[in-house]
Amino acid sequence: MEKKSSAIPGLYKMDRKKRIDGAVDASGLNSEQKKLLESDSPLPFSSAEKIIENVLGFHALPFAVATNFIVNGREVLVPMAIEEPSVVAAASNGAKLCRDTGGFSANADPPVMIGQVQIVGMKDAKNAAEKLNAARAEILKHAEPFAANIASYGGGLRGFSARAIETKRGGMVIAEFHIDVRDSMGANTVNTILEGVAPKIAEIAGGKARLRILTNLAVLRLARATAIWKKETIGQDAVEGILDAWAFADADIFRASTHNKGIMNGIDAVAVATGNDWRAVEAGAHSYAAMGGKYGPLTRYKKLPNGDLHGEIELPLAVGTVGGATRSLPSAGVALAILGVKSAGELSCIMASIGLAQNFAALKALSTEGIQRGHMALHAKNVAIAAGAKGESVDRVAGQMAKEGNVSTRRAEELLKSYE
Ligand code: MEV
Repeated sequence: MEKKSSAIPGLYKMDRKKRIDGAVDASGLNSEQKKLLESDSPLPFSSAEKIIENVLGFHALPFAVATNFIVNGREVLVPMAIEEPSVVAAASNGAKLCRDTGGFSANADPPVMIGQVQIVGMKDAKNAAEKLNAARAEILKHAEPFAANIASYGGGLRGFSARAIETKRGGMVIAEFHIDVRDSMGANTVNTILEGVAPKIAEIAGGKARLRILTNLAVLRLARATAIWKKETIGQDAVEGILDAWAFADADIFRASTHNKGIMNGIDAVAVATGNDWRAVEAGAHSYAAMGGKYGPLTRYKKLPNGDLHGEIELPLAVGTVGGATRSLPSAGVALAILGVKSAGELSCIMASIGLAQNFAALKALSTEGIQRGHMALHAKNVAIAAGAKGESVDRVAGQMAKEGNVSTRRAEELLKSYE
């Protein structure tokens, strides 16, 4: 179904009912999906206690949509689950400011994960790795039955190689499988294959298999996005400011850490909303940022000959649209329906785009007017709610605290009393 515009002016000012109507209309959700959005408890306890152990109740997060995104020519509302004020607004703003150049162009590698089998206890690890590499065809044949399920979906084994490493416990062999996991995140698929095939690997290597687990540094499963922000739209000073901010992150690990944290604000929020393993995404992102030995920013910016700003991002994104919590959490199903994605690759294109939008918006604000004014206005609302404000008094208390530059629970309580 063709989506309507993701630019929904004033969505943030509407009441919940109108906001849901706007999102339902823009995304073409059905009535059941709409009902889930309207529900204050979308996950039944009977399901919750089957997902993890010792369940007592629920930990809820706000579920929102970022507006204004165009990814590969397609209008898309982006669901985000996050507790931090300003993140949704910043992503929406970053996306709004590049709508006049067509939004984001993104692409993703085929969904190939790397699984590692650790073999220990050989006298000569180098020789054992050579033996394994020589037996590559036999090993892949032996692994085939363990990969039959994913092969039936068009995925499966894509490669094998072994290497020797020197460690504090002596020489070891790391045997690595490349596995196309299609639209799943892939952990279960990969780990099942590894556990099935490990005894054969150990036998050929003449050692003992220890760890059999995927790596979250999914370098064969990268996603990339680019966008152009016109100098006339964002202003010359913002172009220069963002370039200065990027150069700072590129030169200084302390800044690079925070720079990447801002990127992950957006990417993690989509991962959480869609029921994806955000810890895996985080691990992959930060280890990728340190590849080559120097931790650096996951985005890059340059000035085009006409003075416009070109931004790009590249990172591993091992996310799925099927399996795991994407199925067991009803709101993850709604998030995927809002996105209207048909594959894990499409989802990772949108996630890369939101990471870039988030980073652009943070750098623009930080390098010009600063983030505190906007941030404190939203923070003030949280403080007002925490102090007991309800309904209209939330905005009244928050507005007054922001005006006074005194955002604290004590002041919120005082104001609430004075309004009684
Ligand atoms: C805050 O959650 C994220 C930022 O610190 C990101 C950045 O500094 O680039 C604003």
